[in-house]
Amino acid sequence: MDFRVRPARTEDKGPLMSFIKDVWGGHDYIPEVWDDWLGDPAGKMFVVEARGVPVGMNHLKFLEDGSAWFEGVRVHPDYRGRGLASMLGENSMRIARDRGVDVFRLTSGSHNKTAHRQIARIKFVEVARFSAYEPSEKMRPRPTIDTINVSVEEFSRTMNQIGQTKEYQLGKGVFWHNWTATSMSPKVVKDLVAESAVWRGGEAIAVVREGGEGSERWEEVCFLGGPEDDALKLVKSLVGRNSRIAKRWVFLPQKSPLIHKLRAEGFVRNFSMILFERRAANG
Ligand SMILES: CC(C)(COP(=O)(O)OP(=O)(O)OC[C@H]1O[C@@H](n2cnc3c(N)ncnc32)[C@H](O)[C@@H]1OP(=O)(O)O)[C@@H](O)C(=O)NCCC(=O)NCCS
Repeated sequence: MDFRVRPARTEDKGPLMSFIKDVWGGHDYIPEVWDDWLGDPAGKMFVVEARGVPVGMNHLKFLEDGSAWFEGVRVHPDYRGRGLASMLGENSMRIARDRGVDVFRLTSGSHNKTAHRQIARIKFVEVARFSAYEPSEKMRPRPTIDTINVSVEEFSRTMNQIGQTKEYQLGKGVFWHNWTATSMSPKVVKDLVAESAVWRGGEAIAVVREGGEGSERWEEVCFLGGPEDDALKLVKSLVGRNSRIAKRWVFLPQKSPLIHKLRAEGFVRNFSMILFERRAANG
């Protein structure tokens, strides 16, 4: 059978959602974001069609750090195992390369072995693992005078501090926001500082942002790094500031010494994800 990859169109939504509604027991986030993705000029969405009917999709996003982010790969159950996800991936890599992008990244839940095999097939390699830790419901923010919202004047010092943390090194220098990992390049950190998302307590640094999809909202400590005691104090003073938001996550890379500190304070691991990367120069 002939399969063809092409840009997504409004009328693809119906046929795609007819099977996506059942992915992950009906908890897939794609129905919430499809309209936004279709209209987003910073990204591109593709479908693969069989006899003129869309049976798979993916989304490609160009990030501020200069990398391309691959997400939302879905293939109809009747068409899996025939290389369609790989066709969509290869197409996105070609589009990104044409734009001069040579770093491609994606994430996948740590248990999704089927996806990992497909990801390996298109030569992406695991570069880091992260988990999201949730505070106990009882936890209330404990503001301290040491918690400082980093100002533009403190940018250079802050950039240095971030680079020296174990979490920066273990986590390949990325922060998480809305399921997307972005490198903390000087330009990216400057923008985060300008939007008042960067906090310091002693020698520790945190990036805090509100995330969401559709009508759902959550609070993310997108990055946390630094000496254990400073980092713990900092995160405890920041988490839960917006009492209207019930979901709160702190992202930490595997092997971070902060994990046991957070656990001892009642934080619980909610989910884990793997960051995969491919560099165009690798062939
Ligand atoms: C993961 C997913 C996108 C793969 O799509 P696909 O079109 O079947 O993948 P491809 O055919 O391009 O890749 C084939 C490889 O993946 C593996 N694979 C794919 N589907 C498989 C299945 N049902 N059982 C076992 N292995 C499978 C195989 O190793 C295969 O390699 P092979 O051809 O050498 O045997 C698809 O299973 C899917 O939509 N799953 C639900 C949503 C999801 O998990 N998305 C990914 C989120 S990161």
